Amino acid sequence: MQILHTISDIRAWRNANKRVAFVPTMGNLHAGHLQLVREAKKHADQVIVSIFVNPTQFSIHEDLANYPRTESRDCELLAAEGCDVVFLPSVETIYAPTAQTTVTVSAVSQNYCGASRTGHFDGVATVVCKLFNIVQPNVAVFGLKDFQQFVVIQTLVRDLHLPIEIIGVPTVREIDGLAMSSRNGYLSERERICAPKIYHILQHARDNLITGKTIVDVETCAISALTHAGFDVDYFNVARRSDLQFATLNDKELIILVAAKLGKTRLIDNLWLDR
Ligand code: PAJ
Repeated sequence: MQILHTISDIRAWRNANKRVAFVPTMGNLHAGHLQLVREAKKHADQVIVSIFVNPTQFSIHEDLANYPRTESRDCELLAAEGCDVVFLPSVETIYAPTAQTTVTVSAVSQNYCGASRTGHFDGVATVVCKLFNIVQPNVAVFGLKDFQQFVVIQTLVRDLHLPIEIIGVPTVREIDGLAMSSRNGYLSERERICAPKIYHILQHARDNLITGKTIVDVETCAISALTHAGFDVDYFNVARRSDLQFATLNDKELIILVAAKLGKTRLIDNLWLDR
């Protein structure tokens, strides 16, 4: 496995390879990330993973400085998975001091995580667009755990006519249902025991929607259950899967989206449902 740091290294490698699948990450890899690598391998001859803790998607009071950095372990895991190249750029490589361009994907970035994390999706869209232009993959693989991010990227690729196929991978969970996340490591022992409730409450909400409860009732009931369990709820919404607008009575393809804090740790999760 090669570890490359500069854009010219990536360009030289890219020219020698036909079909490339790309998995962008911020490192501190877990089984969820590795599942994306496995999926990527099915779609191309060569798989490249980037590890870049992107400063522009964190706001000032967020965890950029403390974000877990475990690059050598990450590279070992990727080598064992059969990854071909790891791209480990510096911040200066991705953001030249003279850079002036930001990519904004407007409507789908507005609600949910976009409402509570100002500028977050501009940071994500900008860095993913830059990484796409550097790597020029045929295929890129993302997790459906970050569903709003997934829709932002699909929209960006469509609107900018990028010739890249975007593939989504279902959320990989711990045995007790907690969605795997690099941020789970921040949870105390007590919080870790409580954390899977977010998934159980999502499942309960899905069942209630299927049996005909109204969206408002389901949302209210879930917010109260989460609050009772010790979460500080950021949002809990039923949305239309196609465009992430708030769901209405007649929508059939839905997704329930949640973000809630447990102590200082912000967890997100979601669940699909068709009715
Ligand atoms: P990061 O949080 O490291 O996640 C990298 C990729 O792994 C994303 O596509 C994310 O959805 C996926 N992922 C994370 N946890 C997962 C799980 N439990 N199951 C399945 N997939 C999972 O998302 C980012 O980094 C950044 O925003 C990035 C896209 C790299 C841009 O900086």
